[in-house]
Amino acid sequence: MGLLFDSFLAELVLVLFAVFAWLYYYFTASFNHWKLKGVPYIKPIPFFGNLIEMGLHRKTQAEGFRELYHKLDGQMFGGLFQTRIPMIMFRDPELIKHVLIKDFSHFHDRGMPHDIENDPISANLVILEGQPWKNLRLTLNPAFNSSKMRILFHLVKECAEDLCRYLDKYASESENVDLRDILARYATDNISSCAFGVKSNSLKNPHSKFREMGEKIIAPGSWTNMHRLFRYTSPALLKYFNIKSFSDEVTGFFVNVVKETLEYREKNNIERKDFLNLLIQLKKKIDINENDDEEDKNYEDDLEKMDNIDDYSFEEESSTTTTMNGDISTPNGHPKTENGHVTPRKKWLDTVVFDENMIAAQVCVFFLGGFETAATSMSFCLYELSLNQDVQRRLREEIDLVLKEHKGKFTYNALDQMEYLDHVVAGGYYMLQFNPY
Ligand SMILES: *[C@@H]1O[C@H](CO)[C@@H](O)[C@H](O)[C@H]1NC(C)=O
Ligand SMILES: *[C@@H]1O[C@H](CO)[C@@H](O)[C@H](O)[C@H]1NC(C)=O
Repeated sequence: MGLLFDSFLAELVLVLFAVFAWLYYYFTASFNHWKLKGVPYIKPIPFFGNLIEMGLHRKTQAEGFRELYHKLDGQMFGGLFQTRIPMIMFRDPELIKHVLIKDFSHFHDRGMPHDIENDPISANLVILEGQPWKNLRLTLNPAFNSSKMRILFHLVKECAEDLCRYLDKYASESENVDLRDILARYATDNISSCAFGVKSNSLKNPHSKFREMGEKIIAPGSWTNMHRLFRYTSPALLKYFNIKSFSDEVTGFFVNVVKETLEYREKNNIERKDFLNLLIQLKKKIDINENDDEEDKNYEDDLEKMDNIDDYSFEEESSTTTTMNGDISTPNGHPKTENGHVTPRKKWLDTVVFDENMIAAQVCVFFLGGFETAATSMSFCLYELSLNQDVQRRLREEIDLVLKEHKGKFTYNALDQMEYLDHVVAGGYYMLQFNPY
């Protein structure tokens, strides 16, 4: 008995040791990557690399990356490790310009895990990579043109007027308010109106469903923690265990809102001027830039630039779906014009499968990117304004003056003329740097 137990224990220790040794090897084998290339790098910790503080929520991304940035003081760039995966950080502004503009065709992938089939929200412009990304970007490009964004102005204005009315009540009674919360609700109303095309009524009802979901997304709960931890430590596991970007509840809510709205609009033949409508037009294969030669030229330039992007193999996805995968790309990556009547863009649209899930993914990313960042920057900006009352006074003077010139009407052009306002907002962003993107 004793003998048996002893040998069992010995075997167990041996197995554990072997497993540990293998894991150790697996997680550290790449650690000489930057050294071999002669690139300066920050010494990684076995199993964790350099991003563990952020993975564990001990630091925000802005703080974490700033610290790493300073560890590389004096270098133009340097290497890091995301657990075992080598990353590079550029510090020199000229180099950064190359990465973001001139040589962007080599740097468009962001290395974030995505799974079009099981996690539809992940099939968005920020996360997709390679050919699927390329296709999506070409499809969506005109929707993000500033002239198209302009049509959203009246929706933003509507929400802003609601906010003014809401605050008037408190102002007239000199009551204290939690501005951060109010602004988050305002931003939620704004983004749900512009992107989803529905009124979320969060300003009036703090417990609206949109607001609830928004809070769930950013709350540092166990789900986000786990997702983040895996994302930083081992993106492959994320896929293996099918851990989605957000809980099923959140994903389901957003996808459903989009589906219901699409149905409703279709049934009642409603066309509302918003972002969703632009996407619906893409789904119906309507070229949102028809009769727009200028735009078509831009599109062709885009295609040319995109052609330089390295071709990408996507074995993993090609067998699974339907949507933005390789099967929709035409030979040579883009359609050719054979006759004068069909624009290249129209032909392109005819080949693209842009379905409900794709629409939901784009709209969701609008929501994610839109409400928290807007609320946070507005809060900080207002805080700074309260500390610098001379700036506040000057800003107010400018707004009054411009509005007077426009007969008291708050229009897109009036807003465009408020230069000092632009400086204040930009200055706020610059000072805060709470968001690393
Ligand atoms: C947006 O569209 C207008 C006209 O359709 C065009 O002149 C302009 O160059 C486009 N802008 C961008 C950034 O593509
Ligand atoms: C409102 O939505 C528009 C369009 O999505 C966006 O550009 C703008 O920044 C948003 N504003 C606020 C205050 O959330």
